[in-house]
Amino acid sequence: MFVSFEGIDGSGKSTQLVLLREVLEQRGHTVVTIREPGATLLSESIREILLSTKQTITPTAELLLFSAARTQLVEKVIQPTLERGSFILCDRYVDSTTAYQGYGRMLDLESVRLCNRMATKGVMPDVTFFIDVGFEQAQQRMQFDSSVGDPDRMERSGRDFFERVRNGYLAIAIDEPHRFVVIDGLRERSEIHDDIVSSLQQRSAFSI
Ligand SMILES: Nc1ncnc2c1ncn2[C@@H]1O[C@H](COP(=O)(O)OP(=O)(O)O)[C@@H](O)[C@H]1O
Ligand SMILES: [Mg+2]
Repeated sequence: MFVSFEGIDGSGKSTQLVLLREVLEQRGHTVVTIREPGATLLSESIREILLSTKQTITPTAELLLFSAARTQLVEKVIQPTLERGSFILCDRYVDSTTAYQGYGRMLDLESVRLCNRMATKGVMPDVTFFIDVGFEQAQQRMQFDSSVGDPDRMERSGRDFFERVRNGYLAIAIDEPHRFVVIDGLRERSEIHDDIVSSLQQRSAFSI
């Protein structure tokens, strides 16, 4: 089973991914966790380019770089993992491209969709949890987090950008209500976690 987590930085994706991994492992599942972009040598190299503040990157170059990193990940890690029958938990996946490059950078949505189809080869999560938190709250959380360094290139994109990104995520929720689950991220970590576990349990095909 393939589960992805989406939301702006500071929304709580990594926190919830770790909590879910623990539950799944306790129940005897093999779990592979991945962050995007990353998880293969090539994808980690592309990640460095994408997040570096040393150079500007045009929106289209950004779209293609994220997509290149993703397709390497799909072929080298995601497909083999799913074939083995393991759980895969992904910290960001293709919806990030729709929300950030499509809605945030305002690239033509048809081109973004085409790129997404090429990059994923049709491999889509069974369920995606979008942890919805406003820009201000996310900023606040990251200020209190001593492990967070200076903002990276994506994080420097400003408030209006993140409002568009959020609207992008909400548009996906309307398009794909079965896969894409909107989670109110402004609650206690444990409450959010319980929601995520019960949402997975409700998908009767997947007993966790
Ligand atoms: N529900 C929550 N309430 C308050 N703080 C939270 C919550 N979830 C996560 N945090 C804190 O917010 C910060 C960002 O969380 P993190 O999981 O790293 O977000 P992301 O991976 O989406 O950037 C961390 O310091 C984390 O401990
Ligand atoms: Mg994170």
